Amino acid sequence: MKVLVCGGAGYIGSHVVRALLDKDYEVVVLDNLSTGHRQSVPQGAVLEVGDIRDAACLERLFLRHEVDCVMHFCANSLVGESMEKPIEYYDNNVYGTLCLLRSMVNNDIKHFIFSSTAATYGEPERLPIDEDTPKHPTNTYGETKLAVEKMLHWMEVAYGLHYKVFRYFNASGAHPSGEIGEDHAPETHLIPLILKTAQGIRDKIYVFGDDYDTPDGSCIRDYIHVMDIAEAHILGMEDLVKSETSDVYNLGNGNGFSVLEVIEKVKTVTGKDFQVEITDRRAGDPGVLIASSEKAQKALGWSPANSSLEYIIETAWKWHQGHPDGYGLV
Ligand code: UFG
Repeated sequence: MKVLVCGGAGYIGSHVVRALLDKDYEVVVLDNLSTGHRQSVPQGAVLEVGDIRDAACLERLFLRHEVDCVMHFCANSLVGESMEKPIEYYDNNVYGTLCLLRSMVNNDIKHFIFSSTAATYGEPERLPIDEDTPKHPTNTYGETKLAVEKMLHWMEVAYGLHYKVFRYFNASGAHPSGEIGEDHAPETHLIPLILKTAQGIRDKIYVFGDDYDTPDGSCIRDYIHVMDIAEAHILGMEDLVKSETSDVYNLGNGNGFSVLEVIEKVKTVTGKDFQVEITDRRAGDPGVLIASSEKAQKALGWSPANSSLEYIIETAWKWHQGHPDGYGLV
């Protein structure tokens, strides 16, 4: 079975590619390398450099490769940036996905796995967040992902295109080999920033607010290991191909950790001490995001087996130690 992984050179996509190859799937990666890294694509996968908004590129690709399922990770995904550049976010995330779906329909490809986000829920009405929790995105990023989720419903009605949507909470950690990991420019995510501070690459870590309604006042998030996300995608794809049933699942581990707790855990795991400074809240940050992933666990037999905070930090630390400049130096 051949899988097209759009965005397979990015952080989450590259870990999914590794997991697919480990299970002997044939993998083609399509990536425009705007934020992805050529070095993160293993030799066993075919890399096609191109953009999902380029119809001719997609047609050529589907002519060359008989694809059974498309996994779609290409997206602009920074919450703060999305508030400053909504046109870019709608262009890549919504229009780009429409182009991809159009080409899939033209080429009679009926299986689609979509990378969505907890940002679709906005400030949640209840905790833990299950899939039926009302969705009121508070930023353009979440809005663009929700727009695609809605689009998929009508694609199924009209064209029989079946899908699984995964809404990730805070993707983190790295492949246990330490060969691939998280490398964003600029980096804005909490765990890589703390690790860079532990390495001495940054001089301090800023805590964005200590006046939230949480036990220590800092924001609580649900950190999910990227290899658990990868495993869910494969289980979801296998179920989709067999059952032709579309569905939406949260991916989180069900435990929340505050920013200050994550910092303490990094100090323990790495044995490094570093400076921590409390600063103002970051605009648009909800106080607490914790997932219920029971649906994925029951329906797909998935479990967040790698998502203890300690293991997330250990694997991410291994990647950062081996790649202090990300993919830049390898
Ligand atoms: N934080 C700090 N200091 C920093 C960076 C982050 O205190 O230097 C805090 C944030 O305020 C937040 C928490 O750490 O409370 C996590 O922040 P991240 O930027 O790592 O992640 P977010 O929760 O903002 O967003 C991530 C993804 C989104 C996704 C969301 C789903 O980047 O794409 O998780 O929960 F939608």
